[in-house]
Amino acid sequence: MKDAAPASAPETFYLKDYTPFGFEVEAVALTFKLAATTTRVISKIRFAPKPDAADPRFFLHGEALNLIWAKIDGQEVTPQMVNGGLECTVPGQPFTWEAEVEIDPQGNTALEGLYMSNGMYCTQCEAEGFRKITYYPDRPDVMSTFTVRIEGSEKVMLSNGNPGTTGDGFAEWHDPWPKPAYLFALVAGDLINHPDRFTTKSGKDVELNIWVRPGDEGKCAFGMEALKKSMTWDEEVYGREYDLDIFNIVAVDDFNMGAMENKGLNIFNSSCVLASPETSTDANFERIEAIIAHEYFHNWTGNRITCRDWFQLCLKEGLTVFRDAQFTSDMRSAPVKRIDDVITLRARQFPEDGGPLAHPPRPEEFQEINNFYTATVYEKGAEVIGMLKRLVGDDAYYKALDLYFDRHDGQACTIEDWLKVFEDATGRDMTQFKLWYSQAGTPRVKVSESFVGDTLTLTFEQETAPTPGQPTKDPRVIPIAVGLLGANGDEIQPTTVLEMTEAKQSFTFTGLAAKPVASILREFSAPVVLDRQMGNAERAFLLAHDTDPFNRWEAGNALATDTRLRMVLNGAAPDANYLDALTKLVRDDSQDPAFRALVLQPPSQAQIAQVLFEQGHTPDPEKIHDAAETFAQSLAQALSDSLPRLYAATTVDGPYVPDAEGAGKRALNGAVLSLLSRLDGGAAAAKQFEAADNMTLQYAALACLLRAEKGADQSQAFFDQWKEDRLVMDKWFALQVATAKPENAAQTARALTKHALFTIKNPNRFRAVMGALAGHHAGFHHISGAGYSLLAENLMALDSLNPQTTARMCAGFQTWKRYDETRQRLIQTELEKIAGLNGLSRDTSDMVTRILE
Ligand code: PHE
Ligand code: ZN
Repeated sequence: MKDAAPASAPETFYLKDYTPFGFEVEAVALTFKLAATTTRVISKIRFAPKPDAADPRFFLHGEALNLIWAKIDGQEVTPQMVNGGLECTVPGQPFTWEAEVEIDPQGNTALEGLYMSNGMYCTQCEAEGFRKITYYPDRPDVMSTFTVRIEGSEKVMLSNGNPGTTGDGFAEWHDPWPKPAYLFALVAGDLINHPDRFTTKSGKDVELNIWVRPGDEGKCAFGMEALKKSMTWDEEVYGREYDLDIFNIVAVDDFNMGAMENKGLNIFNSSCVLASPETSTDANFERIEAIIAHEYFHNWTGNRITCRDWFQLCLKEGLTVFRDAQFTSDMRSAPVKRIDDVITLRARQFPEDGGPLAHPPRPEEFQEINNFYTATVYEKGAEVIGMLKRLVGDDAYYKALDLYFDRHDGQACTIEDWLKVFEDATGRDMTQFKLWYSQAGTPRVKVSESFVGDTLTLTFEQETAPTPGQPTKDPRVIPIAVGLLGANGDEIQPTTVLEMTEAKQSFTFTGLAAKPVASILREFSAPVVLDRQMGNAERAFLLAHDTDPFNRWEAGNALATDTRLRMVLNGAAPDANYLDALTKLVRDDSQDPAFRALVLQPPSQAQIAQVLFEQGHTPDPEKIHDAAETFAQSLAQALSDSLPRLYAATTVDGPYVPDAEGAGKRALNGAVLSLLSRLDGGAAAAKQFEAADNMTLQYAALACLLRAEKGADQSQAFFDQWKEDRLVMDKWFALQVATAKPENAAQTARALTKHALFTIKNPNRFRAVMGALAGHHAGFHHISGAGYSLLAENLMALDSLNPQTTARMCAGFQTWKRYDETRQRLIQTELEKIAGLNGLSRDTSDMVTRILE
């Protein structure tokens, strides 16, 4: 063994340094001899040196592996152990590498590589976890076929591809599709399947399974339906068929992320696949359907065509998020999905883009790739594709996608390859559009209007603030969808896409008899902040009449935001005209309940803080909280005589069905109940809690009661009813923090970390408590600093066990510099404590360092 390397600055990886691996990998055969603390992995890999390799070094990644022996063409060799792997002298012609390593799945709490979760073996290899399983060129541009033999006493032993021979104590699998190692998976345990079948459009019969722990069999049916819908949708919309004889999904309780698209063997956080009406809310059902679709869609966008290197992550993630959003729009309501996505984008991506962690959708450097599974790569990556589709049009979009699949099937690609298919399919130059991939930051687009004679002129100016490493920005191509409405609400100019390419640019509409009302950035056609001075009367007009449902909602959202800003900044009372417009809309039964629920859903306190920051103010969490409370109370009073009727009218009769229509009605019903609870002391909520036969109603009622500090008995009843159900218990933990008064949030969270059912080792449980704390704006930012120190304390406790989840949750601190000096000092102290922790992981160190900069 060599001496440990001296502590040095962590290595930074650069896109510009890309060099291909010097060898082809022709075939990989792996044998696993499973044992909880001493699993043996025997690898047999056929390598062929590339004739003109730029880097002829034979380097294999490896981490936390105990090498037993290694052979080349049957002869034992002694490789040189180097930082992060091994090197070896190898022949100049094709050769066979064999090695045996020992690993410890039981001791693996990082949940990366091969680990154990509740007695079951499970793997997670994206991004760079395969190197914890065996020595291998663990990079996405190295693709090969895999043959796997699993030896063990487990009832069910699964890997990628199609099943081979299975016998007593072993199972074999063969994956005929060349793939990168990050898509490798293995699962073994006492599992039960929920089986089904699917016939592809060319008549291929596919076996489908969802594998779960005994006891969870009753929670698979919804996921299976979602899978079949996804398979059909991808055939119909993108012409993509499934390509193996079997598709397996496994639910696992301990998982760092949502789910993973391993070839033919998707592994899911159980919270993202298991569903039943009694234990899952409408929001859970919708999310599960979307994630199942997302992972399934990766089979083409990610697996058949993968990424050349991890800088290209948004090539697969942005596209797959875009595809799953299209799917949800088709299965449910397109406007509701769009509104939900924009709310999420503003809540998660805009703060990232405006703070110390800002990075382009395709970053050009990183220290730890695990920290780049971000809202920017995923959600902004998807927005960029939405813009591309809008600019070239639907037909050209699908033509370009066909070309992408034709040209690049079986390859590991780049953003350049992706844009080239659009250039070739449409003849359009994508040079300026590419800035969306290389520049960080959210453009601010200021619009002004003038009407002279019969002509309306819209003048736009775009500006993007500096981000880390990018002091200046070039103007981007921004598709701005615009429609014009007449005074009576008729649409006089249907949606047209203005293509902004300059820093400042004007567009005219002529032949207008009178000044119209412009509806700008319809469907949120670009991920920008639109800066538009508009009177509340015009906004109310758009809220009532806009033919674009997104912009109708946006008008209401702007009114709500504006009212709340004036309450916070000037101590104003809730705007009477806005209250009036809102109450009118809510009472109007001819309007879609889902839409009314969205209009009733106030901008979150974090969102108000974000807008204050965007406008150059220092957000005061306490004032923002008080304004939210005052506003909700005023709204409840303004609606008081209608609430009981509305509550009764929106009750959904009959057995629970998790569809969009029922969900929309229940969402409105829930919003009404929460207002009603402010007036009736929780009487209606207590009744609903008693009678509820599904989680959506039970949870909504409990939330109202806890918020009113009247839910102690119901909370206990809920606990007694569900204490055996891990996923429902996560809800119970999170809800108590989320509904606590700001001054009690940290204390509530701290008490919960002492609860017998709390464990720091399960990411879902940890996130339930700490994620709820970080998401409680006024509670987390309470001036006592108790929220900050509790989060920091727990992150420090988790870091040595699970660096990935620790690092991701550091993002709770990313907005720190926008707050007042006192809070900044408090947060800085905590961040420095974390940074100074002995043996701090690379993951967390990378995050904290960037946040502090
Ligand atoms: N690739 C997964 C997805 O987007 C996410 C993931 C990343 C899961 C890294 C685990 C680890 O579907
Ligand atoms: Zn994905």
